[in-house]
Amino acid sequence: MHILKRVSPLSGTITVPGDKSISHRSIMLSALAEGTSTITNFLTGEDCLSTIDAFRKMGISIQRDHSTVTVHGEGLYGLKESMEPINLGNSGTTARLILGILAGTPNHYCLYGDTSLSVRPMDRVTVPLSKMGARFDGNQEGRLLPLSVRGQELTPLDYTLPINSAQVKSAILLGGLFADGTTKVTEPVPTRDHTERMLKGYGVKVKKEHNTISLDGKQTLYAMDVEVPGDISSAAFFLCAAAMKEGSDIVVKDIGLNPTRTGVLDMLERMGASISIQVTRHIGDEPIGDVTVKGSNLSAISISGEDIPRLIDELPILALVASQAKGKTVITDAQELRYKETDRIQAVVDTLQQMGVEIEGTEDGMVIHGSTKPLQGGTYHSFKDHRIGMMIAVASLLTEDDIHLQEADAINISYPNFFEHMDSLLKG
Ligand code: S3P
Repeated sequence: MHILKRVSPLSGTITVPGDKSISHRSIMLSALAEGTSTITNFLTGEDCLSTIDAFRKMGISIQRDHSTVTVHGEGLYGLKESMEPINLGNSGTTARLILGILAGTPNHYCLYGDTSLSVRPMDRVTVPLSKMGARFDGNQEGRLLPLSVRGQELTPLDYTLPINSAQVKSAILLGGLFADGTTKVTEPVPTRDHTERMLKGYGVKVKKEHNTISLDGKQTLYAMDVEVPGDISSAAFFLCAAAMKEGSDIVVKDIGLNPTRTGVLDMLERMGASISIQVTRHIGDEPIGDVTVKGSNLSAISISGEDIPRLIDELPILALVASQAKGKTVITDAQELRYKETDRIQAVVDTLQQMGVEIEGTEDGMVIHGSTKPLQGGTYHSFKDHRIGMMIAVASLLTEDDIHLQEADAINISYPNFFEHMDSLLKG
């Protein structure tokens, strides 16, 4: 349990840990590649360590020295059967993407996760992958983990995403690597495109026409070195904190600024935040840069439609920002939030209501009434969800009394040195 009492504005410069989405994919694609890949600035959060453990269990030799990881790829068909069931911990990205890979790997695997992951829907990937010929079985007719997978010779699929999910898109594209022919995924609304961008880096020909991504199966992946950019979803907690805390002035350096991820910056701008974004370089196909934010008076906005996939993980912290913005912020089209590490609509609404915020949950979002009243301290639970835990920690900048955060450990999922960074920004 952490006891937090924060009064000063934030100032100073930080670099946040590596991007979670890119870190997962770097291990998976390096494992399927021919040759040795070195990954730097790898996120050492628990979710990404689950991905390393899973691939080690499947016979991939992986060495890690802090945030530098070396992966000895075994090629597309190089994964071995695991002697034990594979624990995916809390990680939805590991589960969904690995199912795509194992669908076409001619072995048998048993996969399981923690209590949160065990109730998250897996049919969103097992249904389309089964159409390609994969065989799954598991709880609730294969809808939930634990799942067993028996990889098959796959046929290609032409699939339109029924939900806006990069994990589903990625799982099908990864399955498509094993299929004989061209797999196509059409996404009505763009979602994060790291899989497509990174596959190209590993030598895979991926086409994008309008909103359809396609690739031919059986292509060889070649090892490459990956420098993981800072995670904008982690940076968001401090960028949002600075935007709403008067007198703050911070710089977060070397953040990934892939346009499919920068929705949070657009929303802060829309709310009237003082924010400047500088793209400094590219790592592979990913733009990287520095973001400066100063505290300002904010106004309410609407967040909906195509905004949502570009900031899905940032909605909890944006809801907190909205509690400080003048007027009524309305978030819609975000029903996917109910299927994250916890039901994030419920968790945010319950937490912010307890803090004294006027907020209502709706089926697909939230309505938040901004106010200048200080928030109420007290004992809060992370719901064992890293992003809810960090939202509560940031709320401590706005309370008059201490916040006692229970199950603060959940933050290690994506941001192991979160409190260290928070302390450094509070000291300036
Ligand atoms: C992710 C995609 C998103 C996001 C998750 C990471 C990814 O999930 O919420 O944290 O790396 O592909 P969905 O695809 O379920 O929206």
